[in-house]
Formats: sequence, structure tokens, C-alpha cells
Amino acid sequence: MRVLEASREMTKVSLDLRAKGKTVAFVPTMGALHRGHISLLERAKGENNVLVMSLFVNPTQFAPGEDYEAYPRDREGDLRKAQEAGVDLVFAPTVEEMYPPGDKTPVRVEGLSEKLCGAFRRGHFQGVTTVVATLFEIVQPHRAYFGKKDYQQWVILRRMTADLGMEIEVIGCPTVRDPDGLATSSRNAYLSEVGRAQARALPQALRGIQEAVRGGDSTPAPLVAEARRLMEEAGLQVEYVALVHPETLEDLEKVEGPAVALAAVWCGRARLIDNVELGEGEKESGGDVFEK
Ligand code: PAF
Repeated sequence: MRVLEASREMTKVSLDLRAKGKTVAFVPTMGALHRGHISLLERAKGENNVLVMSLFVNPTQFAPGEDYEAYPRDREGDLRKAQEAGVDLVFAPTVEEMYPPGDKTPVRVEGLSEKLCGAFRRGHFQGVTTVVATLFEIVQPHRAYFGKKDYQQWVILRRMTADLGMEIEVIGCPTVRDPDGLATSSRNAYLSEVGRAQARALPQALRGIQEAVRGGDSTPAPLVAEARRLMEEAGLQVEYVALVHPETLEDLEKVEGPAVALAAVWCGRARLIDNVELGEGEKESGGDVFEK
């Protein structure tokens, strides 16, 4: 496994591999690798000839006052896990390499970026689309793999690649969950033991919506209200619960076709997000992965 820090070198290596007919897979990460990341790496490895992973805590996707400084960082541990997962190339740039002095070109997907998490984390998705567009340009992958735990991010990145005519397949992979149902996330490290027990109410409330829809309920308002009630009762501070269309992310008045229920909560100093696909979407996604 090679670790590269220079963009030019990364691009050259990738273009050479492509010229030799190799398919290049890309898994962008901010490090603090957990089983969710490993599942992306393993899938990407299995479906392509060469696997590139980026390791970059992107400052522009953290709003002022968020946890950029405190975000968990473990370069040595991440490199070891990446090697074990079969990564061929790690692209680990500095902030200056990604954002050269005088950089003035953001990438923003309008509308989708302001909804749901975007309404609470101003500028977050612009930071994500700017860094991912730049990484795509540098890494030149055929396929890029993202976890559907960050559902809105995945929708926005698909829109971005389509709108910019990027010939990159953006693949969404199932959420990996711990045995207690909590989705794996680097920010779970912020949870105390008590917080961890409270946080379970997030996936439980979303599962409640999923079961109700399976049982024939199709009116979002009472389902969303009940999910909010359950989470607040558990002591979580709810930012939003929403039942939306899977591509436009518009609120639904009725669940008639594919839909997704999403929520964001605070549990102590951990901001947690989660979602479940509903209706047709649930059948297509094949469901989440539960670790033993
Ligand atoms: O999902 C993440 O970890 C980040 O948002 C990403 C895609 C690596 C961009 O910094």
C-alpha cells in the first residue's frame, strides 16, 4: 500500500492505471475508520482492480463551533486498517494541498444542500461537495463508494456528478449497525455509556416508522410525531425527523412509492444521524447490515 500526499502524483498514478485498463475504485474518508468504512472498502475492492482511499478531515464541511478540532484522528490505526482491507493507495493530503492559497471555487448543489441536515449545519454540504468534487478530479476513479447512513450526502453527490457530467458511478452501500441497532459512526466515540443507551432510541424510532409503513400506515405526520416523542422521551434532543422522497428529499404527504425516513439528534455532545428506506426503496436497498 502506497501513501501519497501530492495531488499531481495521485492523478498521475491513477491515469496510468486507467490507461492499463484497470478499474479504479475510490472510498473517500475522514479517517477514524470503523466497520462501516471497512464494509465500503471491502465492497469496492471486490468490484474493482485498484482501490484508492482518501484520508482527509475536511475543514470546510465543519461549521464554526463544530467539532473540527476534536474530530477523532488516528492516522496510524487508519493506515493499518486500510492495509488489512486491501487498499492499494491512500491519498492523504494536507489542508494546503486541497485548498491552495487563494482558492475561491466552491461547488454547491442548490436546494438539496439546504434541506434536513443542511438547515442545521449551514455550509456543511457545500464543504462536502467542494471537497468530493476536488477529490474526484485528483483521484479520477471509475466508481466511488459512500455509506447510505449519510443518506442526504449520497443523494447530493449523485446529483453533483450527474449535473457536472462526471463519469463516475456513485454507489450507496447499506448502513452497518452495531448489535444494539446504532449505526456505526466515528462520532459514536463521543457517547458515554448512558448516552449510548439513550442513542438506541434513534434507530428504534425509525424502525417504528418502517414497521408502521409495512403495516399499511401511509400518512407521515403521525408517524413522524410518534418517532419524535419516543426519542425525546429517551432524552435525545431532536433536530428533525422527516419522511421524504428519496431523490428530491421533499416532504411527502403520503407514502405511496419509495420513501425514506431520516432523523438527526443530539445525545450529549454527539450529533447523530440515521435513516431507513421505506416502501419500494426498502426492497431495492436490501436492508442494513447488523454486526454480531
Ligand atoms: O462522509 C464523509 O466521511 C465525508 O463527508 C467525506 C465524503 C469523506 C467528505 O469529506
